[in-house]
Amino acid sequence: MVHKASGEWRGWRAAAEEALYGPGGFYRRPEGPAGHFRTSVHASPLFAAAVARLLCRVDEALGRPAELAFVDMAAGRGELAAGVLDALPPDVAARARPYAVEIARRPEGLDPRVEWLGEPPKGITGLLFANEWLDNVPVEVAEVGPDGVPRLVLVREDGTERLGEPVAGAQARWLERWWPLSREGARAEIGIPRDTAWADAVATVGRGLAVAVDYAHHADARPPFGTLTGFRSGRETAPVPDGSCDITAHVALDACALPGARLLTQRTALRALGITGARPPLTLASTDPTAYVHALAQAGAAAELNAPGGLGDFGWLLQPVGMPDAYLGDLLGKLLVDVPDHEEH
Ligand SMILES: C[S@@+](CC[C@H](N)C(=O)[O-])C[C@H]1O[C@@H](n2cnc3c(N)ncnc32)[C@H](O)[C@@H]1O
Repeated sequence: MVHKASGEWRGWRAAAEEALYGPGGFYRRPEGPAGHFRTSVHASPLFAAAVARLLCRVDEALGRPAELAFVDMAAGRGELAAGVLDALPPDVAARARPYAVEIARRPEGLDPRVEWLGEPPKGITGLLFANEWLDNVPVEVAEVGPDGVPRLVLVREDGTERLGEPVAGAQARWLERWWPLSREGARAEIGIPRDTAWADAVATVGRGLAVAVDYAHHADARPPFGTLTGFRSGRETAPVPDGSCDITAHVALDACALPGARLLTQRTALRALGITGARPPLTLASTDPTAYVHALAQAGAAAELNAPGGLGDFGWLLQPVGMPDAYLGDLLGKLLVDVPDHEEH
């Protein structure tokens, strides 16, 4: 638990920053994120296999460099970096340089080939992949008061809120551009720290691709009351900034996008990477029962990763860096064979 005078009023950004990442903060705990919720990475090794396939496509597009970086940004316990390494074909694995970037300490038992860093390495050639990072980058919350003016929401350590000063300057401009608020009680999370965090991460890629995957919403359908929430031991809970729970809010991924980016749903991206969730043919059950049971389990796991209303609705933001203009088109062309247009944003 963090120990803050419980009567102090602060903006949500400062309160969540300390509750999640301060000494004794939620993400410093030994159990790691997997102790409290299930990301795509924990759901199935199929996710790491799909990301490994994406890394191979990036490798090809880069002309098979002598060193191919894979940066697992906001790595939790490094599960994705280790899983990707295991899933790569030997010729690519031999050239791969995996990094896990985390605020928390390196866990025991992680594959020794994975380098553990507190900041992303600079100037890499390869793929930077941030799964469920940006939703944990703390942001200010705004709410329209009875006077019709959007104001910063202030919070105490016990989660009690009150309205503060009117939102002004760059924050007001961000709201106007990305998430206009009008009706009394309407709320929004002001995404500037996420836009900045993402731009900084993208700037560490010399040549290749940066991908952010998260609960997302877009300008045409923002949630009217925001999405700030808490998670503890697998359950959704009230967001209380005392270090006892995760504090998260869905991401305005369209605001994070830099020029040249594309936004897809996870369902679209995973289908393009070969994770379809198709059930095996029944005939396999009689010809090879073991293979049938295995394929059925794989189909179940793929269905969870692609589920409507669940992980399948996550947004994938693909950001090419230092590549010719045609690169992403080519990559997506290969990735998006047979994908209907309406699934893309
Ligand atoms: C929801 S967890 C996701 C973990 C993992 N990517 C996964 O999908 O299972 C978010 C992680 O981001 C880490 N994190 C947040 N901000 C970070 C930063 N600026 N640099 C490195 N790690 C960060 C947290 O410590 C936490 O482990």
